[in-house]
Amino acid sequence: MRPTLIAGNWKMNGSLQSVIELVEGIKAGEAGKVKLVVCPPAVYLMKVGGMLDGTDIALGAQNVCDAQAGAYTGEISATMLKECGCEYAIVGHSERRALYQESDELVAHRFAMAVASGITPILCVGESLEERELGVTEAVVARQLDAVIEQQGIAALVQSVIAYEPVWAIGTGKVATPEQAQAVHEFIRHKLAALDQQVAERIQILYGGSMNATNAGDLLSKPDIDGGLIGGASLKAVDFLAIGQSV
Ligand code: PGA
Repeated sequence: MRPTLIAGNWKMNGSLQSVIELVEGIKAGEAGKVKLVVCPPAVYLMKVGGMLDGTDIALGAQNVCDAQAGAYTGEISATMLKECGCEYAIVGHSERRALYQESDELVAHRFAMAVASGITPILCVGESLEERELGVTEAVVARQLDAVIEQQGIAALVQSVIAYEPVWAIGTGKVATPEQAQAVHEFIRHKLAALDQQVAERIQILYGGSMNATNAGDLLSKPDIDGGLIGGASLKAVDFLAIGQSV
């Protein structure tokens, strides 16, 4: 059995005060049987990392630079993230791909840098509404995965988490049905199994896109859905914790 992982992607939300309150709320509550990860905006990582010391809640970053150090204005290295206490880093979120033109190749380099530094990348993949309507969901997800596999080899995925996030479900309130999500998760696992059975069995595949306490139970009951990457519903401690409790 793969352990369930519930990761909160806070995106560019909050203030120092609200972030402190959110962390305090999560720490004070009951997560149930799941592993929790929180991914605050980068400027709050150090603060949140300190607050999470001695708890079972893990810290994650929302991105990681593809280079080690140097002239990369605005970027943050994996080593710096480690110093803040990050165990995870989201890579290839659809907002990064769409709004900041991060290519499959760049995402694969970011993924590699995380792995090399002992940070578990949460690799986001997923199709747009147009792609779903065109019937190319699997081709899109396969292309996004292949970019990493071809560059890094299948073995690199042992130390990673995948998040299937249909772009049309992110922040829209339009959640994928458990059947729709399960079908893509199963496709991903079969694709990996063709290359390495062990990787496929062990890797956690999260669903992301308007997941909340109401729909989480049904999604998480599917055999290939091993957790969630939560945006909006991770910004309130009670809502976030309720997702964990729904398992
Ligand atoms: P959402 O975001 O839960 O607000 O849809 C999910 C994500 O972007 O990771």
